[in-house]
Amino acid sequence: MNLEEILKEARSEKIPVMLDDGIVFLCDFIKSHEQIHRILEIGTAVGYSAMQMALLRDDIQIDTLEINAELAEKAKHNIMDNDLEDRIHVYLTDAMDYQTDRIYDMIFVDAAKAQYGRYMEHFLKNAKEGSFFVFDNLQFHGMVDNPSLTKNRGTLQMIKKIGVFREEIQKDPRFKTDYYADKGDGIAISRVL
Ligand SMILES: C[S@@+](CC[C@H](N)C(=O)[O-])C[C@H]1O[C@@H](n2cnc3c(N)ncnc32)[C@H](O)[C@@H]1O
Repeated sequence: MNLEEILKEARSEKIPVMLDDGIVFLCDFIKSHEQIHRILEIGTAVGYSAMQMALLRDDIQIDTLEINAELAEKAKHNIMDNDLEDRIHVYLTDAMDYQTDRIYDMIFVDAAKAQYGRYMEHFLKNAKEGSFFVFDNLQFHGMVDNPSLTKNRGTLQMIKKIGVFREEIQKDPRFKTDYYADKGDGIAISRVL
């Protein structure tokens, strides 16, 4: 399957993939930062965003982490189908259990939304001065700014955590953070100082 077919299938199976304008924004960011070669992605799903990023330049290498075995298998299959297996490596793991000495130029965080602070702390040792953390879903479909959009208790707890993280990351002196409320589902880019 090509990328378009992978996206179509994921959407029809209700597998969450990044919103179209979010992926365009992310890809434009990588294109305009040629120093980005090594990327860690937290949350592979079916490999769609990893493949979009890898296709930008031949010198991009991606490690991507997925906790769900079925999705990780699907992603590996999709990546092989598109001849990207030399540059995208899928790891079936909980991101919090993944340990590596590798240093990444960009860490794209797109997994469990309530865990963003934990992921960031866990992977800070794998970043250097000038590396970027990219966080998607900081609006959570508008609910973070407007909690009355949901009555679900679990969702309310999650959006509260996202809101706290969003505020903290912008104040965190270890980063210079730019927040783009209108891109994707709310994207923050934090440069390690
Ligand atoms: C929004 S989807 C990723 C979409 C993908 N980045 C894209 O746009 O094509 C989030 C994924 O994170 C995975 N996930 C959730 N918690 C995780 C964890 N602790 N470690 C690794 N993956 C996790 C989920 O199974 C899900 O497939």
